[in-house]
Amino acid sequence: MCAKPVLWMPRRLSDATIERARRDYELILNEADTPGTAEEIVAMSARVDAMIPCHSEHFTAEVAAGLDPRLKIIANHSVGVDHCDLAALKARGVVVTNTPDVLSDATAELAMLLMLGAARHAVAGDRLVRTGAWDSWSPSFMVGKQVTGARLGIVGMGRVGRAMAQKARGFGMEIHYFNRSPLDPDMAQGATYHATLETLLPQSDFLSLHCPASPETTDLMNARTFAMLPDWAVLVNAARGALVDEAALIAALDAGKLAAAGLDCFKTEPGGNPAFAGYDNIFMLPHIGSATTQTRDAMGYRALDNLDAFFAGGEPRDLV
Ligand code: DGY
Repeated sequence: MCAKPVLWMPRRLSDATIERARRDYELILNEADTPGTAEEIVAMSARVDAMIPCHSEHFTAEVAAGLDPRLKIIANHSVGVDHCDLAALKARGVVVTNTPDVLSDATAELAMLLMLGAARHAVAGDRLVRTGAWDSWSPSFMVGKQVTGARLGIVGMGRVGRAMAQKARGFGMEIHYFNRSPLDPDMAQGATYHATLETLLPQSDFLSLHCPASPETTDLMNARTFAMLPDWAVLVNAARGALVDEAALIAALDAGKLAAAGLDCFKTEPGGNPAFAGYDNIFMLPHIGSATTQTRDAMGYRALDNLDAFFAGGEPRDLV
């Protein structure tokens, strides 16, 4: 019987994933669940055939250059692969996969939560009740922005963007989107296509970002693009912190251009932006878009499916 491939799991994935990985691989698990450093990744590459990292492990060009040829495949436990220098890994002959599809609903659910929480004063309202400071009520108290009947602009109509559109339709929103190309009508479900960000933004009472982080999308939302939104718009970002110029976001809130923002992603993670803490109209969560029990199992299984296909001599389904 052939020896099992050796697999490094730098983060503690779901119990079901660990159990299956132990059954089929020689698993090296970082029980401490600390992010893998560049040094650890490079050192581990000489001991393992495969890795299942998360977006917390950074495969920069420098790391890629230091990888031992023993490492054959990086099966990411994430849909985003902006933590990987794909060209550098390809040059080293390392196969890279991701976990699309399985997290779309969980991420879209969280984007809805961010949108609703930002629109309806979730931060200030929760604090008022929680601290016992709620001592009066008035019809003009904590008046928010209604989503029903409002226009939702979606940047990136991939799997997560489409899941967001579907959920937002249930809230009676009118969907607009900007994408590289228009969707087939059965996928667009009546959403209005915009060939440019510049035409989408003025139509977006709410704007939700669902595109990957790349050099082209860095600071996609900046002083110029915030200015194109309708007054009192709401920004939602459950994609990547790199998409938003955070100083410009604060300036847009200060100017009253934006009513609120709902953010699950930040330029600096973990940690976020300390300046945001002073804004009750920024509703924040710590990058937990895909963090549901079902989705974590599905992500782990999808990463293992990719490894299984690779070690069986086939092509993994989710090559990037
Ligand atoms: C993803 O899958 O890209 C999520 O952000 C979690 O890493």
